[in-house]
Amino acid sequence: MSTLLHLDSSARTRSFSRELGARFAARWREAHPRGLYVHRDLARQPVPPVGEAWTTICDTLLAEQITEPADYRKAVRTAAEREAWAVVEPLLSELLAADVVLVGAPMYNFGVSASLKAWIDQVTFPRMSLAGTTFVVVGARGGSYSKGRLVRRTTTTSATCVTSSPGTSVWPTRASSTPS
Ligand SMILES: Cc1cc2nc3c(=O)[nH]c(=O)nc-3n(C[C@H](O)[C@H](O)[C@H](O)COP(=O)(O)O)c2cc1C
Repeated sequence: MSTLLHLDSSARTRSFSRELGARFAARWREAHPRGLYVHRDLARQPVPPVGEAWTTICDTLLAEQITEPADYRKAVRTAAEREAWAVVEPLLSELLAADVVLVGAPMYNFGVSASLKAWIDQVTFPRMSLAGTTFVVVGARGGSYSKGRLVRRTTTTSATCVTSSPGTSVWPTRASSTPS
């Protein structure tokens, strides 16, 4: 059974990345009627930024060369680390169980939103491999960053779908939308 993990991270309700992500998810669900669909809204239910106990878990993983996610728990030893792990564990389980991770990523100050960055920090561990997992990123941004001089400023938001494995995309890789 195939599993799609769908992450949203726009602070807006009328959001291009939400709209494009929803379209991708709908197509995926049509194509995988028996698949498992998991949706996590990082803007509405934000995960906290990593704290010191998270970093000491990582120190132990590195010192003891623990690289298998199934063994990460062995690096959780103190009360503070157990508390930090209680945040990581459900997020990491969702990520590791997913065949496809669909990431809704609005551009905020030339990067991803703080809510998405917090999730990335929580679930990314030293030498972790996600080989075999397909990532689909639906991004939205307000500015134009193509090469050359800006000749005309428009109100167009561009939204792009990028996928980590060729052939995964179920719709065109580039789309443009104008806010209504
Ligand atoms: C806090 C914030 C920072 C932003 N920073 C940028 C930026 O650096 N570059 C850009 O092109 N657009 C920027 N924008 C515009 C958003 O990328 C644009 O509105 C996009 O459509 C947001 O995605 P969404 O429609 O999924 O909410 C910013 C918007 C917000 C709210």
